[in-house]
Amino acid sequence: MPTILVTGGAGFIGSNFVRYWRREHPAWEIVVYDKLTYAGNRNNLHDLEGQPGFVFVQGDICDREQLEPWVAKADIVVNFAAETHVDRSLLASGDFVRTDVLGVHTLMECARKHGTGLIVHISTDEVYGPILSGSADEKAVLNPSSPYAASKAGGDLLALAYAKSFRVPVIITRCCNNFGPYQHPEKLIPLMVTNALMDLPLPVYGDGRQVREWIFVEDHCRALDFLIEHGTPGEIYNIGTGCEKQNIEVVRLILQFLGKPESLIRFVADRPAHDRRYSVNWEKLRKLGWEPIHEFESALAQTVAWYRDNEWWWRQIRDSEEFKRYYEANYAWRLK
Ligand code: NAD
Ligand code: TYD
Repeated sequence: MPTILVTGGAGFIGSNFVRYWRREHPAWEIVVYDKLTYAGNRNNLHDLEGQPGFVFVQGDICDREQLEPWVAKADIVVNFAAETHVDRSLLASGDFVRTDVLGVHTLMECARKHGTGLIVHISTDEVYGPILSGSADEKAVLNPSSPYAASKAGGDLLALAYAKSFRVPVIITRCCNNFGPYQHPEKLIPLMVTNALMDLPLPVYGDGRQVREWIFVEDHCRALDFLIEHGTPGEIYNIGTGCEKQNIEVVRLILQFLGKPESLIRFVADRPAHDRRYSVNWEKLRKLGWEPIHEFESALAQTVAWYRDNEWWWRQIRDSEEFKRYYEANYAWRLK
């Protein structure tokens, strides 16, 4: 039985990928290796727990001794493990450097030693920094603005260096903003949906006209599956959709889907160094034959309905002391 190792598989995209992989490749064993930080959640994998061919390991990607045998056993590794939230990286960034840079280094060292078949390292379009016009292709200069984006750029470049120096067969992907079920309620869409469901104010940073390119998480999973089959190790692939929206447009749509009033919107102090726009050129991937299949508004409506119907999932996170501390630090002063 071939094995796929999914590091960070208890997070948002990782858990959606695991579910996707199980459905599309049922003959594979799936090992999820995840530290279970505040963002990792076994509830994200509740329907897979206990199934034959599904293994969960609680472990840190920086712990070489624990990680190495799992990398040695794997035919494919997909690395989602990371600290991922820009606002948290502005409050404290040590864990970002540790996991997003040193964690990638540890994974690369394990792969170098054991000659794993293929590694897909998940990077982000945020490494390009703000793109005020046009779109960033894979050769664009890296110009990260936040400690999160800078740490991701560091890990991304290390992975590339291991491909060049040691022929570690790693593909780097840089995807745009994801949305869908099981996304931590610190991120824009789930935060706005859950606040609206609780009739709390919706904190929109600055003028709300910042632009993000959005992909439904299942399309991201499809792109990763496609690249596992058709991608070339040592190469970088942007993953995008061309679907660009201002934050305020997204927030208004959410309110509309929930039948809640726009009076809930509160324009609050902006994020420092807030990137005005992200936009990726993903022609390289399109030319290989991949296209997104989900349309933004219907996928957003489906996502909003998922949060409305799965309060059991988000309520536990929102009620946790950890989340309350974060909310207080990031929003209390903004909402005064
Ligand atoms: P997430 O925060 O929901 O999940 C991250 C997961 O990594 C969690 O399960 C967490 O427990 C785990 N983790 C953190 N530190 C770890 C460590 N030291 N060892 C092992 N596991 C650890 O993040 P996400 O949104 O699912 O993002 C996954 C990846 O995709 C990240 O690399 C992120 O940079 C990238 N990405 C995300 C987006 C997006 O819109 N969410 C877009 C492009 C790229
Ligand atoms: P986020 O989900 O944090 O993703 P990223 O910053 O990595 O793109 O934020 C998406 C956009 O929404 C970004 O422009 C910041 C904005 N935003 C708000 O206006 N208010 C909020 O409370 C949050 C979390 C984000």
